[in-house]
Amino acid sequence: MGFLNKLFGTTTKEEETMTNPKLKIGIILGSTRQGRVSPQVGEWVKGIADQRGDADYEIVDISEYNLPFLGTTDGTEPGIAAWNQKLASLDGFVFVVQEYNHSITGALKNAIDFAREAWYNKAAGIVSYGSTGGARAAEHLRGILGEVKVADVRTHPTLSLFTDFENGSVFKPADLHQTNMTAMLDEVIAWSGALKTIR
Ligand SMILES: Cc1cc2nc3c(=O)[nH]c(=O)nc-3n(C[C@H](O)[C@H](O)[C@H](O)COP(=O)(O)O)c2cc1C
Repeated sequence: MGFLNKLFGTTTKEEETMTNPKLKIGIILGSTRQGRVSPQVGEWVKGIADQRGDADYEIVDISEYNLPFLGTTDGTEPGIAAWNQKLASLDGFVFVVQEYNHSITGALKNAIDFAREAWYNKAAGIVSYGSTGGARAAEHLRGILGEVKVADVRTHPTLSLFTDFENGSVFKPADLHQTNMTAMLDEVIAWSGALKTIR
């Protein structure tokens, strides 16, 4: 029961927002190439997440920010500031990670490098795909996230290019991933809420 409720015997939308605002979780698409499958995976994640009603989930598409390669410009491109503002507005993340040469994409690494404090003290889950579920890329990402003070949760849905995609391009996830997604999102929400208290 909140303080306005105690005073007036009612709760208001404003009070709820003041005392218990919904967490904002960004579902970050890690690939930017033409023909990428990450939007399909991101929409699947969002579909599962939205049913929970426990946070505001949104797709965050790196390609929309037109980030240059770090260090090749004077840093005044509006996309750089917009990228930082978007990250700063979020409490946690779900990274949609694809394996490129046993690691994450250059685009995702570049986008991570383009922010600093906007990442700090937030939580993240990883859902990855590749020939071996994108496991190698996901493990590389965990090391990087530690450096930008993002706490990565343990549960990690891994999607196979062979069994969860038709012809490697049409996303048809096996039912079993739903359970892992729920567990991962439970952890992201718990840690995102906890870390918010120290920012
Ligand atoms: C440059 C490049 C390197 C790749 N290297 C790997 C790899 O090391 N391991 C793997 O499992 N898949 C690898 N793949 C396959 C990708 O995981 C697959 O194409 C996936 O769909 C890429 O994600 P995207 O469609 O969202 O870009 C590679 C793909 C590209 C384009």
